[in-house]
Parts: sequence; structure tokens; C-alpha cells
Amino acid sequence: MTECDFLVIGAGPAGYVCAIRLAQLGKKVIVVERERVGGVCLNWGCIPVKALLHAAQTVRDATEGKRLGLMFLPPEIDLVALYGWKGRIVDRLVRGIEYLFKVNGVELVRGNARFAAPGEVVVESQDGEQRILASQVIIATGSMPTVLSGMEPDGKVILDSNSALRLVELPKHIVIIGAGVIGLEFATLFSRLGVKVTVLELENQVLPGFDTDLAQVVEKALDREGVAFHPGVKVSQIAREPVVTVHYDKDGTDQAVETDKVLVAVGRRALSHELGLDWVGVKTDRRGFIKTDGAYRTTVPNIYAIGDVTEGPLLAHRAMAEGIALAELLAGTRKWKFRAIPSCIYTDPEVAVVGMTEKEAQEKGREVKTSRVPLSAVGRSLTLGRSEGFCKMVVDAKTDKVLGVSIVAPQADVLIAEASVAVELGLTAGELGRVVHPHPTMSELLFEAAEAIHGRAIHIANR
Ligand code: NAI
Repeated sequence: MTECDFLVIGAGPAGYVCAIRLAQLGKKVIVVERERVGGVCLNWGCIPVKALLHAAQTVRDATEGKRLGLMFLPPEIDLVALYGWKGRIVDRLVRGIEYLFKVNGVELVRGNARFAAPGEVVVESQDGEQRILASQVIIATGSMPTVLSGMEPDGKVILDSNSALRLVELPKHIVIIGAGVIGLEFATLFSRLGVKVTVLELENQVLPGFDTDLAQVVEKALDREGVAFHPGVKVSQIAREPVVTVHYDKDGTDQAVETDKVLVAVGRRALSHELGLDWVGVKTDRRGFIKTDGAYRTTVPNIYAIGDVTEGPLLAHRAMAEGIALAELLAGTRKWKFRAIPSCIYTDPEVAVVGMTEKEAQEKGREVKTSRVPLSAVGRSLTLGRSEGFCKMVVDAKTDKVLGVSIVAPQADVLIAEASVAVELGLTAGELGRVVHPHPTMSELLFEAAEAIHGRAIHIANR
């Protein structure tokens, strides 16, 4: 029997960050992990996908060179080498987290954890069973892809986002079910690697949770790249013989598309079902997400939950922020809560949002002012070969405080950090407009949007 102050189950972005911060605050911490450290984000999500998207962007740049007067031969893609390169990046970062555990004195126990009692966890591994007693247990076990009944991934023909990263050769055609974040990032990736891509989506636009005007820019860009998009359809079955065929319903008629592979990207669900939560009384919702209060407490005292396994946006940076917040709350050093959680989608152009949209602000009874600056107002975007997109800012009409920003533009993922600072710290559009933004950079989009709130943007015709 091993004893510790804090036991963290899961070494993804929520768990490893929480464990390191607890250790920095002088606590004895054990982390249990059954796979490699780093979680989905590092092993199967953010990092490998972004590495591959970088490679895909290089292909696109070479192909687009002609427009700039640069001629390249069509790129040859060695998928094994490409996936190998991506794998080495992941390996290096995995070793980095293991090193950080070591230098911070975090103990890593390998195996599968489940509760025996509220403060007692059994860890099963090839070496047998180990029991750990902990004063406080933090659940950070993450999420996994949702499965469509009768269309379960087999890793060969029907893929999920994990098996799509294990391909040994590129298919000629892939059908992607779901035009959400994962579906569109893979659509961008595969189409640039020369694969014919068809996307089937239940709702009537890509990125259904996002504003239609943002989604339309992305939809147009995908269309230009040759991605076929079918909105408002419901997939009914995938037949494998004589050829792989995806059947779907469109306005009451059965339609079909032949393909080589199918990627199912219809959301994610919590990875909580193997933990024995019922046994100790930790409550979850219908999809397994653990219910917590504002301080990450579950329904059982001294058991906490953070990251993807809880209700909220499934984002690595939300998980990391909660890891730090919980560690500091438990150590008694935390006095504040974070508000702004940005969200980025790595399509081309990228989409990034933070805070409230105009509609959300109005629904909350706020009187708002808005501005919208097109990409063409910023010289740098044209030098990057991009002119479609915009930045939208929503501010409180009475206080001038920035409530939300939406960006669809190259480098939107970086730009949203400034907007997040503004929303988190309650900065006003007037204050943002006083800050000198370097020229020529994409950051001028935010400057112009802030100035446009007061009708004084230089590079657009103010209303
Ligand atoms: P999602 O919820 O973003 O999109 C799933 C899509 O599938 C929706 O548009 C939905 O309408 C559609 N859909 C559901 N059932 C369908 C059906 N039977 N037929 C056709 N379409 C159907 O989920 P996704 O893309 O799987 O991503 C999961 C989570 O991972 C998201 O919450 C996302 O935020 C997160 N994520 C974030 C990333 C980022 O921050 N860049 C990258 C990848 C994932």
C-alpha cells in the first residue's frame, strides 16, 4: 500500500499540469497513467495534427508558388516518412513531460486506475495490482471519440481521429462524417496531401457551433480546394462490399458515395466509465462527463475532476488552466478564477474566438457595439497571399469593455491571445486602440477593430 497527499489519475494536459503545479507548491503527488504521458493532445490530437497540417501547408505553398512566380515540381509525399517525423516530435515532447515529472519530484505509476473506495485507488498493470491511498484524488482521464452505432471504427476502413494518424498509405478518397473541428482539420490535411475529400454533416453549415459568417469563409476556402461538402445529411450505414459505400439520407432520399476510407468525427465523450465512479458515488451526465462545481469538486468530498472528463469545452488549454487553478486552490494560494477560454480551429484560414458573440451578449441583456474589419484592411494579409476573412469585436456599449472577439484569418491562433487578454482583464476598445501594434503584422486587425468601435479606424470606411 502506497500513501500520498494527492493522486492524479491521467497524465494529459489537465493531469500533468496539475501534478507539476502541486509539486511546485511542495505537495507529494503520484500520477497514474496507462498509456504514454501527454494524453490525447500530445499523442493523438493537437500536436501530431498540427505537425501534419504544417507539412500540408508546405505542400499548399509549393502548389500556390505559381501565382507568385515560383515554379516547383508537384510534391511527392512519403507518408511513412511524414508520419515518422510527426512521431519524433511527439516522442520528444513525451520525454519532456517525463523529465519535468522527475525534476519536480512527481511520481509516475504506470497502469489502469479504478476506485476501490473514495480515497483508495487500485492500479492494475502487467506487474500486478498496487493500492494507493490518497487524501485527495484528482480525476483527469480525458475523452475519447464518439462512436456511431453500426459504424464502429476498425482502424482499417472506418477510422477515428486516432487511427487516422496511423495510416501507412494515403487513400485516394476519404469520406469524413462530421464537419466539426476534427472533421475540418482532417479535411484540410488530407485534401492538401492530394486525397479527394467528401464531408457529410448533419447540420446546415460547417462548424455548427460557430457564427455562420465565420463558417462561410471556411466553407468557401474548402470548396476552392476541392473538398465536397454535403450539409443537412444523416449517415445511415457504411457498406463494405463490393466497395466501401457510405449511405446517407438527404431530404428523405437515400444517397450514396463510394470511398476508400471513412473518418468518423462526430464529437467526443468522457473517458469515465472504467473508473468505478458509481461505486464511490461520483455523478456523471448521460455522456459520462463528470459533474463539478465552480471549484472542480465532484459530488464526493476530496474527489475532484478537471479537463475533458468534465462538462465544458474539450480544449487542451482549458484542461491546463484547470490543472493550475485546482492545484492552487488545493494549496490555498489561488484567489481568482479565469473567465476567457479562447478556441482555435486550424483550418485555412484559421478560426479563433474568445468571449461572447454579439448574439450571446444580447441574450444576456447587454447593450453592445460591434465592429468588423475585413482582412483587406491589413496589408500583411495580402503579403501572405490571403484576402478573405475578418475580425469582429463586440464591446459593452456602456463601459466600452471588450466582451468578445472572433477572427477568421491567417495566424488567428496567435492573434486571439491579445483578444483573450482584453476579455480576461476587462480592457476597453479605447485602451486597445492606444497600444502601438507593429506594422506590417496581422495584429493590426485587432487594432483596427478596436478603433472601428469608435468610428475612427484608418484603413476602412467607418460607418
Ligand atoms: P464537434 O462537436 O466539433 O463536431 C462534430 C460534428 O459532427 C458536428 O458538426 C455534428 O453536427 C456532426 N455530426 C454529429 N453526428 C453526425 C452524423 N450522424 N452525421 C453527420 N454529422 C454528424 O466534434 P469533433 O470535431 O469530433 O471534435 C471533438 C472535440 O474536440 C470538440 O469539442 C473540439 O472542440 C475538440 N477539438 C479541438 C481542437 C482544437 O482546439 N483545434 C482540435 C480537435 C478537437
